[in-house]
Amino acid sequence: MDSHAVTYALYGVGAAALIGSLAGLKARLELSKAKHRSLAGHARISRRLASFIPFYEYDEHRFFCADGAPEEIATRRRAAFARLAALYRTRYPETARLTAEATEAISDLQFTERYRVPFQFSRMVREHLPTGAFLQSSAGVTVTDLDGNVFYDLTGSYGVNLFGYDFYKDCIRRAEERARALGPVLGAYHPVIAANVRRLREISGLDEVSFHMSGTEAVMQAVRLARYHTRRSHLVRLCGAYHGWWGDVQPGIGNPVPAHETYTLKDMSEATLGVLRRRNNIACVLVNPLQALHPNASAPGDSGLIDSSRRSHCDRRAYAAWLEQLREVCTERRIVLIFDEVFVAFRLARGGAQEYFGVEADLVTYGKTLGGGLPVGVVCGRKDLMRRFRDDRPADICFARGTFNSHPYVMAAMDEFLTRLEEPPVRALYGDLDRVWSDRAAQLNAWLEAAGLPVRVACLSSIWTVLYTRPSRYNWMLQYYLRAAGLALSWIGTGRLIFSLNYTDADFAAVADRFVQAAAEMERDGWWWCDPATTDKAIKRGVLKEIFTHRF
Ligand SMILES: Cc1ncc(COP(=O)(O)O)c(C=O)c1O
Repeated sequence: MDSHAVTYALYGVGAAALIGSLAGLKARLELSKAKHRSLAGHARISRRLASFIPFYEYDEHRFFCADGAPEEIATRRRAAFARLAALYRTRYPETARLTAEATEAISDLQFTERYRVPFQFSRMVREHLPTGAFLQSSAGVTVTDLDGNVFYDLTGSYGVNLFGYDFYKDCIRRAEERARALGPVLGAYHPVIAANVRRLREISGLDEVSFHMSGTEAVMQAVRLARYHTRRSHLVRLCGAYHGWWGDVQPGIGNPVPAHETYTLKDMSEATLGVLRRRNNIACVLVNPLQALHPNASAPGDSGLIDSSRRSHCDRRAYAAWLEQLREVCTERRIVLIFDEVFVAFRLARGGAQEYFGVEADLVTYGKTLGGGLPVGVVCGRKDLMRRFRDDRPADICFARGTFNSHPYVMAAMDEFLTRLEEPPVRALYGDLDRVWSDRAAQLNAWLEAAGLPVRVACLSSIWTVLYTRPSRYNWMLQYYLRAAGLALSWIGTGRLIFSLNYTDADFAAVADRFVQAAAEMERDGWWWCDPATTDKAIKRGVLKEIFTHRF
């Protein structure tokens, strides 16, 4: 080869490399544009930032005036806090005693206790307003603690409790009777499974079913199947969505291992569709339809309630239109569309989110309430996607097992659940579901507004979240007033209220009345005092300043 030929060859290689790197750059830029601007949209940065934030807490003085409230307001808050602490001490002694004892050795409890409120306030709150972790019974829409206090249940047992605790007690009792003869035999199936499969196929509109032990496992299996059949590596989850605690669906804070094969992209965004259209490595898109209530935002726990910027509003039509677009692109690009309905299935409609939003998925995961009160995870899917082996490559399989999959008692409880789902009283509940719950939310909002309180609620059917309309650092206190008013919340506090569908108008009116009274008391106690010049942005800036000061 002469020297010209070598030069041309080098130019050629250089040009190809340049084109390649420009194309790579374009793809990276496109991916960046499809990330939500919030920290929830940036897993790696949020993990780094989390390791940067130092622990600090407010002393007794600052606890009551972290927002710069004048002494008169701080004094009012201090007196209210002492009164509430005395009430908690006298009203919940046995529940609090056993909780304190158990917390010593139950890591889960240590975690939830610590993260009920922003960490700067946490210790004082834990010491003086201990939240009981124990209950002795449930009935109707209430639960009773170890001291005999009866609460309206707004926890919904993480969403499991859809039809009321008595409904599930009945499912479990009947299931135990029916599965007793076989007992806990595993591997072989109880015949009741056949009926479950038939009904699940009808409800999901999909061909095949697999049983698992939790929602997390169902999601793991759905994603594994998608990767196996598409031979592609990456899964796309939408910003803020929870899909259980498996590492690949939980990149960022909470997971010590980076999830290298997960893209977290913007919900309801054209940029996300662009990435799906152009990348060749995407196996599946996971959708948690609950995000329709707060697209791109994470689960609204009160520990993150450092100001009043929590926003939430469900636009059903807009979300349905988005899902339709997603459906089209997934079909076009042979990307597997997975609806993770572990939380919302049966709650939004009998046919779940697919029916509610009018969009069909390729795989659907179920769990929670479907077990009739017992633990379960289910994947329903298209025949070609559910297959775990290839006819032409006998060693190339997609493995999935689980000791307790298809446990006879769980399967019988599921059958009870699905049987009741077909009965007229339950079918009737679905007729007017959305209207009933949005009317109730509107009614509570009207009462809150009439009382001049800076609190509102937003809902996706029976799943609610509490919003705050005045800039404040103390919104998280509301959960302690609500508890004192006899309303039980889960450990994420006012971020999530979950109603069961057996709430009558009278039950709801009682809850709404207590809610308004509790908020009014909190207002009187000065927690929502606000410097007229303050904004949520200013509050955030103030907290950031504290963090930097403590860090350096
Ligand atoms: C949408 C969704 N997917 C998966 C899971 C995980 O289910 P489990 O807690 O049964 O593992 C949850 C739990 O809250 C969920 O809400």
